[in-house]
Amino acid sequence: LLDLSLADGVELTQLIDEPGAHISRRIYGNDEIFELEQDRIFRRAWNFLGHVSELPNPGDYVTRDLAGEPVVLIRGDDGEIRAFLNSCRHRGMRVCRADRDNVSYMRCVYHGWSYSRSGDLVTAFAEELYDPGRLRKEELGLIPVTQVAIYRGVIFGTWDAEAPPLEEYLGDMRFYLDLFLGRTDGGTEVVGAPQVWDVSTDWKFCADNFTGDNFHLYTAHGSVVDLGMLPPDPMSLSYGYLVRAQGGHVLHLVPGPPDPSFEYFGLPRDLVPQFERNLDSVQLGLLKDHAWSVGTVFPNLSFMQVMVQGDIGGPNVTFLSLRAWMPTSATTTRVFSYLLLDRDAPEQFRRDSYEAYVRTFGPSGIFEQDDMENWEDCTRVNKGKIAQRHGLHHGMGLHLEPDPSFPGPGQAWPGSYGERTQLSFYGEWLKWMTHERPWAS
Ligand code: FES
Ligand code: FE
Repeated sequence: LLDLSLADGVELTQLIDEPGAHISRRIYGNDEIFELEQDRIFRRAWNFLGHVSELPNPGDYVTRDLAGEPVVLIRGDDGEIRAFLNSCRHRGMRVCRADRDNVSYMRCVYHGWSYSRSGDLVTAFAEELYDPGRLRKEELGLIPVTQVAIYRGVIFGTWDAEAPPLEEYLGDMRFYLDLFLGRTDGGTEVVGAPQVWDVSTDWKFCADNFTGDNFHLYTAHGSVVDLGMLPPDPMSLSYGYLVRAQGGHVLHLVPGPPDPSFEYFGLPRDLVPQFERNLDSVQLGLLKDHAWSVGTVFPNLSFMQVMVQGDIGGPNVTFLSLRAWMPTSATTTRVFSYLLLDRDAPEQFRRDSYEAYVRTFGPSGIFEQDDMENWEDCTRVNKGKIAQRHGLHHGMGLHLEPDPSFPGPGQAWPGSYGERTQLSFYGEWLKWMTHERPWAS
């Protein structure tokens, strides 16, 4: 175990009581916890970095953060995508300063040191003024991210050399990710650039919500219900399953009403032959039987495939979005939100899906605004010293046993209103905060 005590003598293990469904408010908005999370979770876990379709050509780069430090992802002349600490070896200046660009070289704006598209230092300023042998350019390339790997087009990185391979880290979650990322021949691609915005919230409220909190919809998003854009029955999204795939990787799967237009998550029928080719029979059955899914890959990559009305009285249209919740401080989070489309989806569907996403879950979307307000307020109020004397309740549905007839891997609890997946997320959080080798324990 790692050092468990916080500065005031409280032990980390006192903060999360998974069996008792009790979470301490002290884990939110707390600078000491934030520093420990950076150290024990974000510098060790596999973190989301981007999607291969953001970098179609050699020289394309995007800039991101990995555990609070700037990184650049760049496609080399050999077609490989590499990731580096975005910091010049001379004085540390950020070498790539745009969100995205295409470059022949990565040239530092301070004194002009230039790095190749594979990160090697090519030229320094006034090289003739160094002693022979002093400027060892072969040792002064950009510092690579320790491990980089791609799963179904999604790029992950970790600063930890001991982290297990990405496929092992994702484990059984791969089975479920394939329903969204691996169902068609061409895979998915990002539409445009990610939308990025800052929220005054602890990142954990975002991940908590995206572990599959269906039951906030009828209150937090009540105005959308009033507008007739969600079914009026508050239990209509309560069916299906809460799934703990592996560790803190969780999702929910919710069926639609008995109407074929809600099968296959409402995806275009023309794609069904591709689903049949790319998925096994269990995956295909789950895809056919469900209309909504939201989940999270621990620690902070969430996804949603949901059917929504983007317009009052309009049709339900599905979209697939990836969300990365990048903590920037104990009380602030930078959100990266992507719309993904199957490359092989028909043109009309691509437009409709894009529109549905922007109108509902883009930064000005009718759903997104409600969520931000709740997460910001929770972050602010839970910092109170009186508030912190009392924990937070996470006990819905805990009397239910996992359903042994559920065909997918992991554990699945019946009904999708419940707090099993939230507790799984916090249980995993505690494991990473307290264990030397969390992936092995
Ligand atoms: Fe980059 Fe000096 S800091 S060249
Ligand atoms: Fe919401």
